[in-house]
Amino acid sequence: MGTPSHNEVDFYDICSNFVHDIPLYEKMFTPGKAPLLELAAGTGRVTIALALKNYELIAVDISEKMLRKAHQKCAPQVQEKITWLQDDMARFQLPCEVSGVIIAANSFLLLPSITHQKMCLLNLSGQLTPGTKVIIDVFHPLFKLKEPHFQGQLSLLMSIDNYVKGGTLNHWCCGRYDGAQQILIANNIIEICRDGEVKRYPYTEVLRYVHRYEMELLLEQAGFTVENIFGWYDERPFEHSSQKMIFVARKN
Ligand SMILES: C[S@@+](CC[C@H](N)C(=O)[O-])C[C@H]1O[C@@H](n2cnc3c(N)ncnc32)[C@H](O)[C@@H]1O
Repeated sequence: MGTPSHNEVDFYDICSNFVHDIPLYEKMFTPGKAPLLELAAGTGRVTIALALKNYELIAVDISEKMLRKAHQKCAPQVQEKITWLQDDMARFQLPCEVSGVIIAANSFLLLPSITHQKMCLLNLSGQLTPGTKVIIDVFHPLFKLKEPHFQGQLSLLMSIDNYVKGGTLNHWCCGRYDGAQQILIANNIIEICRDGEVKRYPYTEVLRYVHRYEMELLLEQAGFTVENIFGWYDERPFEHSSQKMIFVARKN
């Protein structure tokens, strides 16, 4: 369920090296007695950035390979601040109370069906103390589905010269979506061109996307109150043309 393939793990850090969401998490949560929880923490892009800012964290991810990469990136003094758990975000058990929860960068959409998404929110809600803040960052379908690569056009998303000595890395994507099933399929190819040779590393991501009021209902049914929906990480309100739907909710 949502477990990334070998190629996705190998190239995750290079293809997802953004940091523009981190200041929002720093603003929304203060380092405290109880750790923050990141679900689907991957290679620790958010977890490690926050640990470096003095937060304690519990980081859950289903993929052993992603967690191994995260470990390798951590200096011992950062490692001390993080508890890594290999588990399913729809079933995990917390080892202690947490002060806040983050599900970053569309990771919630990797839960493959509405049943799994409900399970995740109910399992989480059942383990939080009232008032705990939860932030879930997902894409706005109206914006995302219009991107040329989801209209069937093979698109170059990123190109890095000298990724390896004298070699270029290209990230291509071509996908499609099914509006009835609310599924987005992204077929990615990482291409490394060097010395006149090309090696290609494909991987596919499948996302079960949510609409705004559906997500609000899912959160409410699981025992949360939605306090805000931001359209971007600078806290601008969610609106028709927003790229993002960043739900800020509190456990009742
Ligand atoms: C797009 S990465 C996001 C990593 C990180 N949160 C970030 O923002 O860079 C998604 C992660 O979700 C994990 N994942 C997918 N399904 C999961 C599940 N059911 N439970 C826990 N982790 C899951 C994958 O293993 C992968 O590491």
